[in-house]
Amino acid sequence: MSLDLAIRPARNLLGALRLPGDKSISHRYAILSALAEGESRLENFATGADCASTLACLRALGCEVKQEAEGTLTIRGRGPQLSPPQGPLECGNSGSTMRMLAGILAAQPFSSDLVGDASLSRRPMARVIEPLTRMGAAIAASGGARPPLRISGARLRGIDYALPVPSAQVKTAVLFAGLMAQGETSVSEPVPTRDHGELALEAFGARLTCAPGRISIRGGQALRPVAFRIPGDISTAAFFLCAAALFPESNLVLDDVLLNPTRSALLDVLSSLGARFSMLNVEDRMGELAGTIRLEPRPLGGARISGAPTVALIDELPVLAAIAPYTGQGIEIRDAAELRVKESDRIAAVARNLRALGAEVEEFTDGLRVPGRQPLKGGEVDSFGDHRIAMAFAVAALRAQDKVVIRNADAAQVSFPEFFETLEQLVER
Ligand code: S3P
Repeated sequence: MSLDLAIRPARNLLGALRLPGDKSISHRYAILSALAEGESRLENFATGADCASTLACLRALGCEVKQEAEGTLTIRGRGPQLSPPQGPLECGNSGSTMRMLAGILAAQPFSSDLVGDASLSRRPMARVIEPLTRMGAAIAASGGARPPLRISGARLRGIDYALPVPSAQVKTAVLFAGLMAQGETSVSEPVPTRDHGELALEAFGARLTCAPGRISIRGGQALRPVAFRIPGDISTAAFFLCAAALFPESNLVLDDVLLNPTRSALLDVLSSLGARFSMLNVEDRMGELAGTIRLEPRPLGGARISGAPTVALIDELPVLAAIAPYTGQGIEIRDAAELRVKESDRIAAVARNLRALGAEVEEFTDGLRVPGRQPLKGGEVDSFGDHRIAMAFAVAALRAQDKVVIRNADAAQVSFPEFFETLEQLVER
């Protein structure tokens, strides 16, 4: 199915919102629930297709996953030993599913095949193949270390691994493998990435040793089940925050949203651009912070994002670039070559779409520079099959001079199927 959607200009965004659970946390809690001994209960589980892929794979590996009330799942774990799947494990569009499952499949006494859609089949997998092979698994991939993957599990041994590219998916995959390996596994990261893998392992009762930039786990620890309410997805919240920030009259409140400091850098950027926030009811839920955010829009200035902030903002960069024409001084993004190997080449996709709406953009191998004070015209853009590109341009469209048609807008299904209706409910015209 492919859906083209027209977004008309808006006057502002008004309202309060509670979002489905964070995608990164949902994947990790589902996988660790599968490895725990007993039944876990996960409230506010992510609604997108990516996390549904993880659940389908866990079912195929012998776990009982039940949908209770809306948004609530119970998962009966099997302990560290899963059952061999009857066929290939379908990861759909989800890099997180493939990379994190690779970590646990590497330790199983059977072989499994991990397959993905056309976009996932182009994404680099050497980053998980390399450490997991060093731990003792045998992994065959297609040319250039792309999916599909055939993983022949083994008795793993712990390794001391320095991540060559900052990637929380790879860090998590190696720690999950380390949980089932003999001896100790350590992962060092050059730049901090989201820490949900570490926090989730601790929530399920595993002991980790964390020093700055280095995490270690001893293999053979049993996991206990949890009951957890997953905070709303901050990367989805980003689209609504950026949309509201475009209009001085907006008033947006987001309840129970993830505020983990490794994920909330968008709030810092919006603050440095000029927006103001208040935060209420902040609580610590098994190490994950959650709370209410109220945004007070102000005219937006400019920003240059590079180095560690680029890593922290990796999923929010497309929407920041998409709203950059409406800022005073524009936005420059550097050190972001990873954007080229996401669900689409996000640097090329953003540049093409902005140009299609009449903006000037300078494209670099590792980022882009979008000057400010460029009113966008109406026109046609494409999601390039990428959920974050579809949502980023729906946001940019709200302040365009005329309607913007988003081709293949249904890509948003991957992380937030309810995105367009939710946006329409908040928008005033
Ligand atoms: C994720 C990590 C990031 C991010 C992705 C989710 C995670 O990917 O872009 O959307 O949940 O660990 P990388 O690990 O490839 O940087």
